[in-house]
Amino acid sequence: MKEKGFAVWFTGLPSSGKSTLAKSVAEELRAHGHQVEILDGDEVRQRLTKDLGFSKADRDENIRRIGYVAKLLSRNGVVAIAAAISPYRELRDEVRQDIGDFVEVYVECNIQVCATRDAKGLYKQAFSGEISNFTGVSDPYEPPLRPEVVVKTDRETPSESTARILGALAALSYFDGGVTPVQEAQPGD
Ligand code: ADX
Repeated sequence: MKEKGFAVWFTGLPSSGKSTLAKSVAEELRAHGHQVEILDGDEVRQRLTKDLGFSKADRDENIRRIGYVAKLLSRNGVVAIAAAISPYRELRDEVRQDIGDFVEVYVECNIQVCATRDAKGLYKQAFSGEISNFTGVSDPYEPPLRPEVVVKTDRETPSESTARILGALAALSYFDGGVTPVQEAQPGD
């Protein structure tokens, strides 16, 4: 029987941990028999959206294209995992409507911690004004209002965040991997 496809949409500041969690969630889903593709902002921008920059219009177009591919994949039984900043709420809601089976994961992380990770040195350049329109520094980021999952990567380990995402997917009946929920309700809670 074909597995049901769906989209897992990571959103969060640069260096918040989206790509890391996309990979670990993909690995777990694959280990449980799902077909998975990752649409990672950095890679997509080298291939599918090479023509786009970082204006609002270009970011919106970037998200629309990623959303379109995620829709095609998910309706064919694949789990499409998107890991792009996706800073604008309206665009995330647009792709949510379009895809239907959509799980939004807000990768929450204090900007100081993101800046400390700064593998590509972009925060440093953004703070010094060498690059402009940098998300979280000189360009907007609109956090989700009702994401299905929030992970806090400045205080959880990657494996804790991964387990919480898989737990949420299980609760939504998208995953049946026998994940133990990280926070189990206790009687009297
Ligand atoms: S999005 O806003 O359109 O969703 P996306 O996730 O595809 O962004 O690309 C973000 C990546 O582009 C970052 O990881 C970073 O490496 C790079 N980048 C270059 N310039 C910027 C900028 N001004 N703002 C954010 N990211 C930038």
